[in-house]
Formats: sequence, structure tokens, C-alpha cells
Amino acid sequence: MTDAFLDVMAAVPTPVSVVTAMDGTRPHGTTVSAFASLSLDPPMVLVALDRGSDLLKIVREQRRCGLNVLACAQSDLAKVFARKGAAKFTGVRWYSEDGLPRLDGVCGWLSCNVADLVDGGDHVVALGTVISAQVGNPAPLTYHAREFGTHIALDRAVR
Ligand SMILES: Cc1cc2nc3c(=O)[nH]c(=O)nc-3n(C[C@H](O)[C@H](O)[C@H](O)COP(=O)(O)O)c2cc1C
Repeated sequence: MTDAFLDVMAAVPTPVSVVTAMDGTRPHGTTVSAFASLSLDPPMVLVALDRGSDLLKIVREQRRCGLNVLACAQSDLAKVFARKGAAKFTGVRWYSEDGLPRLDGVCGWLSCNVADLVDGGDHVVALGTVISAQVGNPAPLTYHAREFGTHIALDRAVR
């Protein structure tokens, strides 16, 4: 069953985002695909973080996080932030927004207060109340069938 489950989930296209938080004066970030809109009033999102995630430890303490929705030219950043370690921001262009690390050139940005952390199997679901939101122009980075890609409207797709 596990293989079939993984294969089905691999067939679900997702956006690719980097969740960020400040660990004191040090920025930290983690690549996620398990990110979705949750509520409109109040505006809320959810993100599922592995129990072993270092970012989750910081979010538990700080109760705040940023969501950087990556652009299609940022697959290298997705790979960098999918590694472990405290130096993921080395050489990465970022700035502080609402006291949270924001990456340059993303196609969407959300600053969130973490309203709740809910256990879900081997992950923890962070429920974030959105305190500011900004959209950019680039096309999004997507993840589908274990490959990075982007979204193309059907009218423009070669069929
Ligand atoms: C495309 C992609 C999507 C990922 N999605 C998630 C996710 O939704 N949740 C998660 O906890 N880890 C996800 N990961 C794995 C984390 O990025 C990875 O385990 C990371 O090293 C965790 O770093 P941290 O311990 O500093 O938080 C994903 C990795 C990739 C490449």
C-alpha cells in the first residue's frame, strides 16, 4: 500500500514553497509541497512539516513563519532548502519582511502567525493566520511525478 500511496501522491501536482522563520538572528528555511489555503475569513493557510524538521522546532518557539511561493526559475532554491543544516541561506538573496525571511523573486509571499500546531501522523500541521500577502509576476514552480515544472494553461499547452 505504501508504494501505491506514494505513487498516487507523486501524481498530484503541487506548488513548491519555502517556509521560513528566524532562529534568533539566523534565517532558516525548508522546502515544502504540503502547503494549501485553509480559510478566507480569517485568511489562513496550512503547511505540513515533518516531526524531525528543524524549521518546525523554530516555528514551535516563535509561533511565526513566512511562506515563499517559489517561481519556476527557482528550482535550485527548492533543492538548497530541501537539505539539512544551518547554512542554507549562504549565498541566497533574502531580506526581512515583518521580521521574517523573504526570498527575492518569489511569485507569492505570506507572513503568518501560527494559530495552532496539529499532530498528523509523522507530520505536524501548522495553521497560519495570514497577516500580510504580496503576489509577484513569475510563473510558479510546481512538483509533479517527482520532477520540477510549472503550470501552463490548457489553451497554451501543446496537445
Ligand atoms: C519538492 C519537495 C517537497 C517537500 N515537501 C515537504 C513538506 O511538505 N513537508 C516537509 O516537512 N518536508 C518536505 N520536504 C523535505 C524537506 O524540505 C527536507 O526534509 C528538509 O531537509 C527539512 O529541513 P529542516 O530540518 O531544516 O526543516 C520536501 C522536499 C522537496 C524536495
